[in-house]
Amino acid sequence: MPLRFERREGPHVLEVIVADITTLEVDAVVNAANSSLLGGGGVDGAIHRAAGPGLLEDCVRLGGCPTGEARLTGGHRLPARHVVHAVGPIWRGGGHGEPAQLAAAYRNSLAIARDHGFASIAFPSISTGVYGYPGREAAEIAVATVRAELSRFVALRVIFCCFSETAAQWHREALQPPEDP
Ligand code: AR6
Repeated sequence: MPLRFERREGPHVLEVIVADITTLEVDAVVNAANSSLLGGGGVDGAIHRAAGPGLLEDCVRLGGCPTGEARLTGGHRLPARHVVHAVGPIWRGGGHGEPAQLAAAYRNSLAIARDHGFASIAFPSISTGVYGYPGREAAEIAVATVRAELSRFVALRVIFCCFSETAAQWHREALQPPEDP
């Protein structure tokens, strides 16, 4: 049960950790937000509490964000320099476009990272809390989507910041399928 799992893919590093995402010193942490961008529970509440009121002021100015998209703010009092607010889908059984929307949330977060030259970004397991997306399926989409975007970067460190050992195990398995040597 490693605390940290790291996998190198060319110049890139993919990591799985169990941690509170608000403690990470990275170019950007991703927030699992809702489309109002005005805060909420779960990781969103934790990020707003740790970042302080300046984060909400930034978010108010953004005027919301559709499902599957992402928006950038400063990190305020977080050790992370920026927050990418991504809106994942609410799970409604899987037949309402949820997988594509979840993949889009990861892809659009990475597009922001690329446009701003970020070298490190940490993701929570978007949609798998309040929004009810099954964790293993979400981990598979997260890993596949991130992998497909890596070639757009010179060198990127991606941290899958899980909140439970079970979620971390799903991400490790997605990163390193059993048939992998
Ligand atoms: N660090 C890392 N991961 C965390 C943390 C943390 N501090 N806290 C929770 N998680 P959720 P969603 C994990 O519910 O499902 C909010 O009210 C958690 O265990 O935060 O996308 C928003 O405003 C879970 O695996 O986000 C929206 O309304 C993952 O983060 C709605 O919830 C995501 O859980 C979004 O729901």
